[in-house]
Amino acid sequence: MKLLTFAIIVFGSVFLFQCNSGKQESEESIYEGMDFRTRIRMRQYMVQGQQQYQIHCANCHGDDGKGLGQLIPPLAKADYFLEDIPRAICISRNGMKGSMLVNGVEYNQQMPEHKDLTALEIAEIITYASNSWGNVSGLTDVKQVEAILAKCK
Ligand code: HEC
Repeated sequence: MKLLTFAIIVFGSVFLFQCNSGKQESEESIYEGMDFRTRIRMRQYMVQGQQQYQIHCANCHGDDGKGLGQLIPPLAKADYFLEDIPRAICISRNGMKGSMLVNGVEYNQQMPEHKDLTALEIAEIITYASNSWGNVSGLTDVKQVEAILAKCK
């Protein structure tokens, strides 16, 4: 059964890569320089991450990661998000409030906590968000997320 699941993932990924070969640069470049196993894991994280993002984040930050005017900051091409992924991991779990500057715009709202999210779900969400909409930040692994969550202030 495990073997079957693995076979499906491998086949599925190979299939997706082939379909993707005609896609625009950005889709391709997020996998650039990765070995085969990392690519497969990245692909899994991206698919799962998109689902989790839709459930937990999209109603505020938007399907396109653009946020909402002066109320919700963007994640797409957002300097605040991309310059400090560990900080974003802590925010995803614990929420935050107070003033922040994102791409030169000030936000001073409150983001709710998501205590129910597992380290794996956060890894998938962060991988998805940091590699979509023009963002290219590589794979954020569950082990990294566990270590970072243990140290959030
Ligand atoms: C209820 C609306 C809401 C939800 C749901 C939500 N956020 Fe936020 N998020 C906000 C707001 C509002 C801020 C700005 C907080 C402030 O001004 O202090 C923010 C800030 C952030 C930031 C830092 C600012 C930036 O743009 O880089 C990150 C990263 C982030 N959110 C990620 C997430 C992720 C990942 C999820 C899903 C797990 C999520 N948020 C779910 C409302 C939300």
